[in-house]
Amino acid sequence: MPKILAFAGSGRKNSYNFSIAKCAAEGANVDGVEVTVIDMSEFDMPIFNEDLEAEKGMPVNAKKFKQLLMSHDGFIIGNPEYNSGYSALIKNAIDWASRMEDGEKPLQAFKGKYAAIIAASPGGLGGIRGLVPLRMLLGNIGMHVLPNQLAVSGVAKLVDENHNVVDEKTQKNLHGIGRSLAETLLQAAK
Ligand code: FNR
Repeated sequence: MPKILAFAGSGRKNSYNFSIAKCAAEGANVDGVEVTVIDMSEFDMPIFNEDLEAEKGMPVNAKKFKQLLMSHDGFIIGNPEYNSGYSALIKNAIDWASRMEDGEKPLQAFKGKYAAIIAASPGGLGGIRGLVPLRMLLGNIGMHVLPNQLAVSGVAKLVDENHNVVDEKTQKNLHGIGRSLAETLLQAAK
């Protein structure tokens, strides 16, 4: 059964990108697909450094995150825009997960897998500019990134404090992105 992992590039308690990733994950929850949502605050890891890696190996949380990526076929990524790019958290987690350990193939956690990328920001552009470099990065590490994406502007008014998207149109659009990813995976599995 195809498996989807949804997460945000933010460990912030009230992360809007977590809220939209969770909403898209609801849309991906169709028959024949397994969907898991994770909170990146539970995967706190140091900034990647080759000296640290050589001395201490991969940190436990980086290993856990990589194992999750390895065991899933598609990812829903809520990407916070910082200064028009992706978040440091997401880049750092990808850098750790890209490191090869015994018996693994290069970029095994990513290669040939599928991603749906979305963003949310209280600002007027919704983080759309950060999706451009994220799409490029994921493509460069061998992923198929769905052409449809969504940037949710003015997000503070569209979600509640329990990470629910309360605006009907936004919810419908996010569910649509999640469903597209699920359908793509079902098609690819045939
Ligand atoms: C931001 N934010 C932001 N927003 C945006 O639309 N474009 C941008 O370039 C930036 N740049 C930026 C830089 C820095 C250093 C901070 C702290 C914030 C706002 C940011 O996207 C917003 O706070 C999001 O809500 C953060 O994501 P989470 O934590 O809510 O998922």
